[in-house]
Amino acid sequence: MSGTVSASGSKNSSLPILFASILNPHPIELKRVPVLKDIETTLTLLRGVGADIERVGDSAKVSLPKLTSTEAPYELVRTMRASILMLGPILAREGVARVSLPGGCAIGSRPVDLHLSGLEKMGAELLLEHGYVNAKAPSGLRGATIEFRMPSVGATEHLMMAATLAKGETVLKNAAREPEIVDLANFLNSMGAKVSGAGETEIRIQGGTNFRPTKYEVMFDRIEAGTLLLAGPITGGKVRVEKMNPKDLGSYLDILKNCGVMISVGTDFVEAEAGKNPRGVSISTEPYPGFPTDLQAQLMAYLAQVDGESEITESIFENRFMHVPELNRLGANIRAEGAKAKIWGKHGCYSGATVMATDLRASASLVLAGLSGRGKTSVRRIYHLDRGYEEMEKKLAKLGAKILRSKE
Ligand code: EPZ
Repeated sequence: MSGTVSASGSKNSSLPILFASILNPHPIELKRVPVLKDIETTLTLLRGVGADIERVGDSAKVSLPKLTSTEAPYELVRTMRASILMLGPILAREGVARVSLPGGCAIGSRPVDLHLSGLEKMGAELLLEHGYVNAKAPSGLRGATIEFRMPSVGATEHLMMAATLAKGETVLKNAAREPEIVDLANFLNSMGAKVSGAGETEIRIQGGTNFRPTKYEVMFDRIEAGTLLLAGPITGGKVRVEKMNPKDLGSYLDILKNCGVMISVGTDFVEAEAGKNPRGVSISTEPYPGFPTDLQAQLMAYLAQVDGESEITESIFENRFMHVPELNRLGANIRAEGAKAKIWGKHGCYSGATVMATDLRASASLVLAGLSGRGKTSVRRIYHLDRGYEEMEKKLAKLGAKILRSKE
């Protein structure tokens, strides 16, 4: 496969940014909000608390002068865990909130204790009852110093948002450093908040924001970009992804280089080409700027067709190897045990088969393996893919894939 495609707006930035719009009574205009299932769920949740939303293409205008409800119901929250991020903004603005607990998740247990204990430190009174978090802060939230036991992306975002309306300063220590955190901070600051240090391990938020209207463009989707880039080397070709900032890929490009992929970088694009000496690697997923768990399945699909041995350790989520048996059905030779997956790579290992997607990034790894394989691959349950990849089949077709979406 070869050619050029553009990165879409980031799903994992758009979600917290949309939830942060609950804080602001003035109109907000967002650009580059990708057209995805999870975004539509978020917009439905926002409408549920009274937001007026105008959605045209990848723009979204949100207006929420007055909340008509302070609740996020189970029926929606269960389909998207990030919905828990509504709790803090509703509570901060209204002094009361009722949000369903997300429940189970395919890739790991994914508790939300850091979100809840952080809000408690800021003065929230929480009661977990009937599967819901009932929260109140009758005299408002107050600033606090909160040190996370691990850098959680969601908890950092959640408390950062809530802190903008708290009394006094909040300090988040051992905060997550993902580019999406920086994007959220930039968005909050664009509407009058005072957040500093985002992208570092310590973030400071001065509370008591007097919010104003804003227009903001969401950053590119670094996980989509990292996935599309692999379509080049996994098929022996060369792919360029544009409208992106290579710096936000953290160590990912160095890891690809270590696997023998040829990488060229411009100010707003990256090109990945199959190298002459592809080789295996031993690597572990890590918080940003380390190797992202959200690209683990896709890199594994690539490594399985590189001659030699590789090992991947998944250190963020405890059950994120569900793609392994499906990749093996396509011809890979991978054994997963606990947090480690051992890969015995073989060039040309993939041959087309029908496989089942189990989660968002697992689906992407199956599509990549299918593109690399001989014959036809059918990936079922692509609703997982539609949660996080905008127009994936169109982008891949542009790069030369014969790819078709059909109804099961
Ligand atoms: C975000 O999830 C992303 N989701 C995930 O993207 C991504 O995999 C993950 O960060 C890690 O990078 C969104 O941004 C919407 P965490 P999040 O809190 O915030 C534990 C994708 O494919 N933890 O950083 O839920 C947790 O169990 C997805 O797009 C607690 O123990 O991740 C995990 O082991 C899936 N208690 C670790 O921290 C808590 O209160 C990191 O999770 C919170 C988290």
